[in-house]
Amino acid sequence: MSDTTADDTTLHRVADVDEIEEGDSLIVEVDDEQIALFVVDGEYYALSNVCPHQGGPLGNGRVEENCVYCPWHGWQFDIESGEHVQGDDVVPTYEVVVEGTDVSLKL
Ligand code: FES
Repeated sequence: MSDTTADDTTLHRVADVDEIEEGDSLIVEVDDEQIALFVVDGEYYALSNVCPHQGGPLGNGRVEENCVYCPWHGWQFDIESGEHVQGDDVVPTYEVVVEGTDVSLKL
């Protein structure tokens, strides 16, 4: 995987578009950080794979109505903002850039 610099952020190429399909998720790693990548209604979303409750893998959770459900205890996070629906926690989110067949994260 290659990285390129754009502005003061870095694009990290993490997957090919054919590695993740509509409704799927993929857990990728950038700089030792696990990030969950989702495709919902044709849009790509990326947020930390680590649930702020007890570290559950959000990339293994299901997505319903733009919320990711943590597979361990069901906490729900807005897939776009990372905000915990029932509380104050926020999961970091990342911009996804798709160019040709490359899926990259900007961070
Ligand atoms: S670890 Fe995610 S809800 Fe408990």
